[in-house]
Amino acid sequence: MTALKHTESVSAKDNVILVGTAKTDFSKHGLSPEENAYVKKQVAAEEHIINVNQYNRRIVVYIEDKKKEGFQTIEACRKAGSRVCGIMNTAKAESATIVDLTGNTENILAFTEGMALANYQFIHYRQDIKKVANSLKTINVHSKKVKAKDIEHLQIIVDATCKARDLVNEPVNHLNATDLAKEFEKMGKEAGFKVEVFNKAKITALKMGGLLSVNLGSIDPPTFTVMEWKPKHAKNKKPYVLVGKGVVYDTGGLSLKPTANSMDEMKCDMAGGAAVGCTMYAIAKANLPVYVVGLVPATDNRPGMNAYVPGDILTMHNGMTVEMLNADAEGRLILADALSYAKKYDPELAIDLATLTGAAAAAIGKYGIVAMGTADKKVKDKLKKSGKEVFERLVEFPFWDEYADLLKTEIADMKNIGGPVAGAITAGKFLEKFTSYPWMHFDIAGPAFINAPYDYKPKGGTGVGVRLLVDFLTNIKN
Ligand code: BES
Ligand code: ZN
Ligand code: ZN
Repeated sequence: MTALKHTESVSAKDNVILVGTAKTDFSKHGLSPEENAYVKKQVAAEEHIINVNQYNRRIVVYIEDKKKEGFQTIEACRKAGSRVCGIMNTAKAESATIVDLTGNTENILAFTEGMALANYQFIHYRQDIKKVANSLKTINVHSKKVKAKDIEHLQIIVDATCKARDLVNEPVNHLNATDLAKEFEKMGKEAGFKVEVFNKAKITALKMGGLLSVNLGSIDPPTFTVMEWKPKHAKNKKPYVLVGKGVVYDTGGLSLKPTANSMDEMKCDMAGGAAVGCTMYAIAKANLPVYVVGLVPATDNRPGMNAYVPGDILTMHNGMTVEMLNADAEGRLILADALSYAKKYDPELAIDLATLTGAAAAAIGKYGIVAMGTADKKVKDKLKKSGKEVFERLVEFPFWDEYADLLKTEIADMKNIGGPVAGAITAGKFLEKFTSYPWMHFDIAGPAFINAPYDYKPKGGTGVGVRLLVDFLTNIKN
């Protein structure tokens, strides 16, 4: 992982990134008069990233790119950081120092964040790892405004996001439900939050019929991980409960995924669970004064063994019955049990994160998170604000009662699929039946896993949700 350091001085040997505006005088920062003239010319031509290749080091100038709204400018800084990360790695730089010539803390932190997030690689299975590994190991930040503790906080967020990416990128033959729970245990030990893993016997005793049914087709047992961060100085009495879908692989079960290649990326189906575990990790490491519980039901979804079959009627943790008509709509079944279990905490707010529907991904793609739920407007607004800040934007979908009608069946309390329309919403409506407290559902099927690098997000797992939740929980006031 990339090391972030706050530095009081700028080494004359280190690669340097000078962050300024079009009006900044860069001449005193290691540029020769010719180089300075070149920079000036590029600035006049409205270039934002200017690359000066000196004999023994790189100097990159970044001219802040002011957008209409603050959060867009910040995102432009992250994107620029990501491009400069590429420049530094191409130059085989091992370290680089960001020099703040603007005094704009948010922009400098965003630039650093973009650079560090872009430096992520998932290459540990490669034998030529040394050859392909990025050279950049350390990013130093030199700024009067940005404090050492800001950099420490950013390091936690970057590490947690990269951990979530790692978990998503690990395939199921290396990360089954038990392995995932073990990873959470390790993270709990390292960061100082409590982790309890329920095994199959305990899950059976709790009558989690959704999770147990999805697991029937698998050889590996399910797990249900309960994580708790309850600091003495917590501002809230009732906890925020985070619930993450932990389907470590989704074949679709007996309703085997029908489309060509649609299974290729299904190791990503625990991205919600990864986001929840890694958020717990971040808030505990940062010692945030909030009481938070994380729940991750986990299993693979396969057609083997005694797999559940379309037509089965399941009895869920809360006693409700579900006619299972599509084994590929498994996420809602395991989440339903977790949401029902969450009731015992009397949550201030519960948020679930799940790669739940292709419909959500089809509707808005990788560009945002499909959100819906019963939380009040104030809470929704805060979540949306966090979404903008970290650029994991929320799109709220309608959540009208009529959509629940699509889940009706004559022979059970509900079925696990809706009709041909509004698939993301009917999935949400299904979950709603298992909640009895303020709740939000985030469908991250679009942004959780991408098939090509995109700005500071690498191909594969993106770690979406971690930065969003940490930002939201950091801003809890009551
Ligand atoms: N894990 C999938 C959803 C998904 C699709 C995630 C694409 C990431 C990318 C989920 O379990 C699923 O299969 N949903 C079905 C539901 C349908 C059968 C009602 C879907 O969206 O097709
Ligand atoms: Zn599925
Ligand atoms: Zn799934």
